[in-house]
Amino acid sequence: MEKLVIEGGLPLSGEVKISGSKNAALPILAASLLTDEPVILRNVPILRDTTTMIKLLKSLGKIVEIDGDRVKITSNGKTRHVAEYKLVSTMRGSFCVLGPLLAKLGKAKVSLPGGCVIGIRPVDLHLKGIKALGAKIQIDGGYVISRAKKLKGTHIYLGGVFGSSVLATANVLMAAVLAEGETVIESAACEPEIEDLSNMLRAMGARIRGVGSPRLTITGVKRLRGVSYRVIPDRIEAGTYILIGAATRSDIKLRGADITHLMALTDKLKEVGVKVTAKRDVVKVKCKKNYNPVSITTYPYPGFPTDLQAQFMALMTIVEGVSVITDKVYPDRFIHIAELNRMGANIRREGINAIVQGVKKLKGAQVMASDLRASAALVIAGLAAKGRTEIHRIYHLERGYELLDKKLTALGAKVWRERE
Ligand code: EPU
Repeated sequence: MEKLVIEGGLPLSGEVKISGSKNAALPILAASLLTDEPVILRNVPILRDTTTMIKLLKSLGKIVEIDGDRVKITSNGKTRHVAEYKLVSTMRGSFCVLGPLLAKLGKAKVSLPGGCVIGIRPVDLHLKGIKALGAKIQIDGGYVISRAKKLKGTHIYLGGVFGSSVLATANVLMAAVLAEGETVIESAACEPEIEDLSNMLRAMGARIRGVGSPRLTITGVKRLRGVSYRVIPDRIEAGTYILIGAATRSDIKLRGADITHLMALTDKLKEVGVKVTAKRDVVKVKCKKNYNPVSITTYPYPGFPTDLQAQFMALMTIVEGVSVITDKVYPDRFIHIAELNRMGANIRREGINAIVQGVKKLKGAQVMASDLRASAALVIAGLAAKGRTEIHRIYHLERGYELLDKKLTALGAKVWRERE
C-alpha cells in the first residue's frame, strides 16, 4: 500500500488539465450494453472506478480496448446477464448495468451494491422505476434478479427522501429507451452527467425529450446503434482544483473544464473572495488577500454538489470566522471532520450541521483517507498546511482523480508517494 506525502504551505502556479468525468463515464460505459455495435468513447478518465466498470463489461462478454483516453467496446453478440458481487460490491456505479442488461436481454442478475462510509445508500428508487416498467424483481442471495419479456413505457415519479437520484435516473432511463411506448420520468436527476448520458443515448438513436430537466420523456425504440462519443469534463475534479487554488492562495488555470457546471461553487467562492472566470474551456482562479467565511448546504444539481462539500470545508477551516456546512444529499457525509481536526482545524458536528470555526493555519499531520472526496479534502488541507502531511490509504483517491500527484507536481506542489 502507498501513502501520499505533501510538503505544504507552498504557493502553486501554472495550468492543470481536467480529465473526463468519472460519474458521466460510468453510466455511459454501461450504456454500451444496449447495443451489439461498436461504441467508441473519448475523454474517458482511466481510474480505478472506470477500470472496474471496464472489468465488469468484460465479465459480461464485451471486448474492450483502451488507448489513452479512448475506449472501444465491441461485442461478439453473446452478452451475459450476471453482474457478480466481486465487482459490484467494490463500486456502486456498477449497479447501473441493471437497466441496460434488462432492456437488451430481458433478464438481469445484478449484485446489490451495499452501503459505504458516506451513507446507507439504498437502491429502492432504482427498483421502483424498473418495476414500474413492468419487470418482475426478486432479491435472492444478495442479488437483484429481474425479468421482463417486454418492458412497457409508463409514468414514473422517481423522487426520494433526499430528492432525485443520479444513478436511479440513469438505470431507469437506460431501461426505458428500449421499452415499448412512452415513459415519463418525473423528478429525474438534472446532473450534467445524466444530460451527458442522455446525449449519448440520443446519438445511439434513442428518443428522449427534456434532456437536462426533471421531466424526461422517452419514446422507446426497437434497437440502438453504435456510437462515437466524447465524455464531458469532470466538474468535481475541476471544482477540487479550483478549491486547491483558493486554499493555497494561488492564481492557477484549469484547461478543459466546463465552468457552466460549477455555478453553485463559483458563486459561493465569489462571496469568499475568490474570483473564477472562464474563456472557452480555460478557467482562471484569482484569489483576494482577505477571505470571508461562507456557509453552504448541498442539494441535487444545480445546487451545491455533495461531492465538493468536504473540499469546501477544507477551505473554510482556514478562513477566520464561522461557517456552517450542511449536507442534504448525504447527511452523514462528515467522516473528514475528525481528520481535518487532526491538522489543527476546529470543526464540530451539531446534528446535520458541521460548524467550522476558521483558524489561521493548519499544521501537517498523519491522516487517513476514508472515501474519495474526504481524501481530496485532506489533499487540499495538506497543500495549505505548514509542514508535512501523510495521507494513508490513498487508494480512495485513485478511484476518482486521474494522475493527481503528477498534476499537482506540475503546479509546483511538493507531493510524492511512498510505500507504507
Ligand atoms: N437514494 C435513495 N434511494 C435510492 C437511491 C438514492 O434514497 O434508490 C438517496 C441516497 O441515499 C442519497 C440521495 O438519494 O441520499 C442521492 O443519491 P444518488 O442516488 O443521487 O447517488 P448515486 O447516484 O448513488 C451519484 C454519484 C456520487 C454522488 C451522488 C450525488 C456516481 C457513480 N456516483 O451517486 O458520487 O455523490 O450521485 O450527487 O455517479 C463520488 O463521485 O465521490 C460520489 C460518491
